[in-house]
Amino acid sequence: MTTNNRTVLDTEAGRITAEDPHLRRGARGFPLLPGGYGRSTYYTGAPGPYAIRGEGYRLRDDRGRELIDANNNFTVLIHGNSHPEINQAAVKALSEGASWGIPNIYEWELAELLLSRLPALDQVRFANSGTEAVMSAFRIARASTGRERVIVTRGGYHGTSEVALVSGGPSYTRGITEGVIKDVTTVPLNDVEFLREAVEVAADTYAAIILDLLPNRAGLLSLSEEFVREARDLATRHGIVLIIDETISLRLGFNGLSRDYGIDPDLLTTGKLIGGGFPVGAIAGRAELMQEVDPTRAGSLPHGGTFSGNPVSMAAGAATLRLYSEAEVQRLNRLGDAAREAVNSRIAAVGWEVRGRGSLLRAVPSGIERVDEPTQHRLWWASYERGLLGSPANLLSLSTPMDAGVVDEVADRLTAAVLATAATLNKA
Ligand SMILES: Cc1ncc(COP(=O)(O)O)c(C=O)c1O
Repeated sequence: MTTNNRTVLDTEAGRITAEDPHLRRGARGFPLLPGGYGRSTYYTGAPGPYAIRGEGYRLRDDRGRELIDANNNFTVLIHGNSHPEINQAAVKALSEGASWGIPNIYEWELAELLLSRLPALDQVRFANSGTEAVMSAFRIARASTGRERVIVTRGGYHGTSEVALVSGGPSYTRGITEGVIKDVTTVPLNDVEFLREAVEVAADTYAAIILDLLPNRAGLLSLSEEFVREARDLATRHGIVLIIDETISLRLGFNGLSRDYGIDPDLLTTGKLIGGGFPVGAIAGRAELMQEVDPTRAGSLPHGGTFSGNPVSMAAGAATLRLYSEAEVQRLNRLGDAAREAVNSRIAAVGWEVRGRGSLLRAVPSGIERVDEPTQHRLWWASYERGLLGSPANLLSLSTPMDAGVVDEVADRLTAAVLATAATLNKA
């Protein structure tokens, strides 16, 4: 790719030539992207590498490294990079047209596949991101209950809509109105008493309780079964809509993680893997709630999105779900459990642990809920230098091209990175 004679990307050579794009400035002297970043969530404390090309679990970057990709675009790429069957499905759809203003059949195909995995839910609406799915789920809950307030857990991350950001704390609530902030009650993780009291003191003001069963921002600590059961019971008893946000956790069970907890949500939000690497979000729910967005009903909620249900995301998503069989879900989860155990036995002595469940892992200093950013970034760079790519918060997600040998390598590299990070922190 060449722009204004400034060659940026030489795909064949696998490197970026000329200048580091982070340093590129526009005519008025500013970096083209704020801070040099296209997403704040890429940030790892210093200018990081650029992706050049991925295949399976391998990702090549512009610095000449071949990494084990355990970031997988923040858990999206369940079948790794550039999976031939998913590519073929996407290219076929694309060759027929990128997006249209009338429905396409791929939307029906993905809807059927997704709902077949969620037997307690009747209907689905697609969106372009998990953020949008959660926004719409709140609106459906509010419209159906005639109430405004919502309950979230501390550290639960549900995207970047205003309501969803409130639980993140002070830096997340900048720019959000008092009215929105007042509508959100934040409950400490797994504090059953707090949850019960919060609901019972003002039950008829709450439209929804939203839970992520394995919240990454809260340190990838699982919600307890007792807490989740209590949320389900309170919601049922008080006519509150229980939303389970499975944007990430859907990968952990063939029927999602909610089924492993033995509960059914009223609405389930998801995204990430169900688009096969393309933009997607989804709200699935019981028909009596989903009818809120049924345009054949008078007074229904407007729900649009120019790119919602676009054929490329839908076709790639359908291919992805077909490939992600029950056997593959369990195989990946077993590999993740074994890796967690192996790393934990080697890092406990330096005061670190690997948390998570199944195919999701994250190393953190033991006993800490929210890890500070400099520590996260140190571990990220230590992992990167050992050829292991995680998210900037060091969330690692396995993908189906990985076998036991690759996951052993992930475990070895993670162990070495944690030991090196712990040593530098002890010196500091
Ligand atoms: C649980 C959860 N909900 C919602 C979102 C938002 O999804 P998106 O980034 O697609 O908007 C995320 C993103 O990481 C998430 O983890």
